Amino acid sequence: MTERENLVTVDEMPQHEGQEVTIRGWLYNSRSGGSIAFLLIRDGTGIVQAVVAEDDVSAEVWETAQNLTQESSVIVAGLVNEDPRSPGGYELHLRDVQTVQLAEEYPLALKEHGVDFLLDNRHLWLRTPRQVAILRLRDFIMARLEEFLRDRGFSRVDTPILTPNACEGTTTLFETEYFGDPAYLTQSGQLYSEATCAALGKVYCFSPAFRAEKSSTRRHLIEFWMLEPEMAFFTHEDNLDLQEKMIDYVITQVLQKKGELLEELDRDKDPLTFERPYPRITYDEAVDILHEEGLSIQWGDDFGAPHETAIAERFDRPVFVERFPAECKAFYMEPDPQRPEVVLAADLLAPEGYGEIIGGSQRIDDYDLLLEKIREFGLPEEEFDWYLDLRRYGSVPHSGFGLGIERLISWIAGLDHLREAIPFPRLLNRMRP
Ligand code: 4AD
Ligand code: MG
Repeated sequence: MTERENLVTVDEMPQHEGQEVTIRGWLYNSRSGGSIAFLLIRDGTGIVQAVVAEDDVSAEVWETAQNLTQESSVIVAGLVNEDPRSPGGYELHLRDVQTVQLAEEYPLALKEHGVDFLLDNRHLWLRTPRQVAILRLRDFIMARLEEFLRDRGFSRVDTPILTPNACEGTTTLFETEYFGDPAYLTQSGQLYSEATCAALGKVYCFSPAFRAEKSSTRRHLIEFWMLEPEMAFFTHEDNLDLQEKMIDYVITQVLQKKGELLEELDRDKDPLTFERPYPRITYDEAVDILHEEGLSIQWGDDFGAPHETAIAERFDRPVFVERFPAECKAFYMEPDPQRPEVVLAADLLAPEGYGEIIGGSQRIDDYDLLLEKIREFGLPEEEFDWYLDLRRYGSVPHSGFGLGIERLISWIAGLDHLREAIPFPRLLNRMRP
């Protein structure tokens, strides 16, 4: 077999009906009965059934095909035939097979496994069709989000991972060491994006963020990816408007172009089919809903997962909760001029119990107020001197938000837990593999 003879991928097979092709991949599964064998070969783009008939191939090819173990890597050649019984609708009449590596006994036999075992074998678990579909969806979603922003004049400006300061409160700081000095893994690139937006106007950073969350929930990762746009001259209203358009864009793109991935994931598309505008309620209205639902909450408390779920259940699409009490949010948020005890911040809650997918706000642009807040929150003033500079030199109203990528993916894909939305999850008790 010459290796590159009409080399195709499984997803390209329909264009090669009636042709001899070569496919490179891995043996997903096989069965044989008498003088015929069926090899399911996956190559990352899909799975194809290769049919081997003992009478049609040499004794050597027949022998090789019979002895292949699960996940052996192979190069196969054969004739493409339309066949509705094969996954994808096309099968390969195998003429030749070459083993690249004969796999040892594969730990992830094709049966149900417990989640701990799967997580221990995450590096192999990723090969299963469901995980491949999630990763393809992740890739698609990330690309569409960036496309949405670029189409609107945003530039990606990267922010540091190692920082000496806290952006989102000191309780979840992930401490490390910087040549003898204490340092933290970034919780958010926002403070730096505020600087870059004063240079470029509309920017976003897209990077891992780290939170030493001491509680283990289905919505929390220790290391997650966050997309954070930051816009000069944007008000709170402009901010919500952009968020709504961005979410609408990405959902529409998934439904239009990646329906087959949702099907692979058994994701019901109906709950994803809704239109803008998304409802906007105030924190106060949300508290009333929670009291009606019999949940305990006091004015000033931040919402927990059960609160977010109870609020979201009232709506058939994402809902913004805005104007939170200043005391339960971050130090940099602009107070509502009409009601300074609340801030111009909003969380976007996803339907179906997926919780907060976006947190954002208008930022304080006044020097004196920002300094007062830094002191009030007990933050080390000297580490924020550069940040205060942004209010000394050409300060403007500006706003931004952070979108949790794994939360968005989990919701769109209908996952039970965030751990499947990232290739190698870092969880409270897990850093391996
Ligand atoms: O609401 P958060 O903490 O906001 C910020 O970090 C702001 N600095 C963002 C900004 O305005 N630029 O986090 C933003 C989003 C949340 O809505 C959630 O989707 C996600 O990040 N998130 C997490 N995702 C997974 N695991 C965690 N532990 C998360 N913590 C936050
Ligand atoms: Mg938040």
